[in-house]
Formats: sequence, structure tokens, C-alpha cells
Amino acid sequence: MKLKSNQPLNKDKIFNDLKTLANKSYSPYSHFKVSCILYLKNGQEIHGVNVENAAYSPSICAERVALPQLFINDYTKDDVELFALYTDALEFGSPCGVCRQVMMELLNPNQKVWIYSQKGYQDEFEVQDFLPYAFSKNDLKK
Ligand code: THU
Repeated sequence: MKLKSNQPLNKDKIFNDLKTLANKSYSPYSHFKVSCILYLKNGQEIHGVNVENAAYSPSICAERVALPQLFINDYTKDDVELFALYTDALEFGSPCGVCRQVMMELLNPNQKVWIYSQKGYQDEFEVQDFLPYAFSKNDLKK
């Protein structure tokens, strides 16, 4: 959790912030750094990086490090202005399948997502673009 910033969202500044944050990635096995920042409407930021493990399967993606912190800090999905994701991919890196499911659960379907790669800003999406026909609480109705 980072303190309030009063600056408007700027694609280049976000790229720099994501790259700086990606240096905190703990990825000694894949050497593939991922970082993400949830920019909140009140100016606060929530950060995540991927954190790997020698046993491999306990490794966790940057998205799933960041998203639960929303609720731990008493925010909801409606408090999020932007979800920005950086991966070490050359051209374009997108969220893994598990993270897509978690994004659908913990963010609004029309939440704006900016994707960054080594080459900088790539494109804007909505969370629901990443997971059509998502399994959701509606599917639990019997
Ligand atoms: N990774 C993420 O952090 N987020 C994703 O959505 C894709 C993959 C991480 C997991 C692992 O530490 C590394 O990238 C290589 O897969």
C-alpha cells in the first residue's frame, strides 16, 4: 500500500512505476518479472509482484498478491480507478487463467485494465475481455 498521490494517471509515469516495482519481483526460477498496481479513486495505490518458490506450485502471481489487499485495506471493487499490469514480455503479456478468474471475482467486469510490456504501454482492456463465459456466483445457483 502506497501513500496518496495527487497526480493524474499518466501512461509513461505508470510504466516507470511498474518497472521500478517489477524490480521487487521475487522470481529466481523463471526470471520473469511481473508487477501490478491498483490505482484507487482516492489516490492510494496497491502493489503486487510475483513471488516464486523452490517448490514451484506455491508461487503466486503479481495480480493475486495485489487484489486481496483491496479488502484487507477496507476498499471495494468500486474504489478502483485503474488496474495496471506489467510483464517482462517483449511485446505483450497477459494475465494467466487463474488470475483472470480472480480478477473477475474481485474487480468489476468493466474495470479498466492497462497492459504494459518491456516496450511500454500496449493496450486498454476491460476485466471481462479476459474471461468470456466466466464461472461466477450465478453458476452456484442450484
Ligand atoms: N505471472 C504473474 O505474476 N502473473 C501472470 O498473470 C502470469 C504469470 C508470473 C508467475 C511466474 O512467477 C512467472 O510470471 C512466470 O510464469
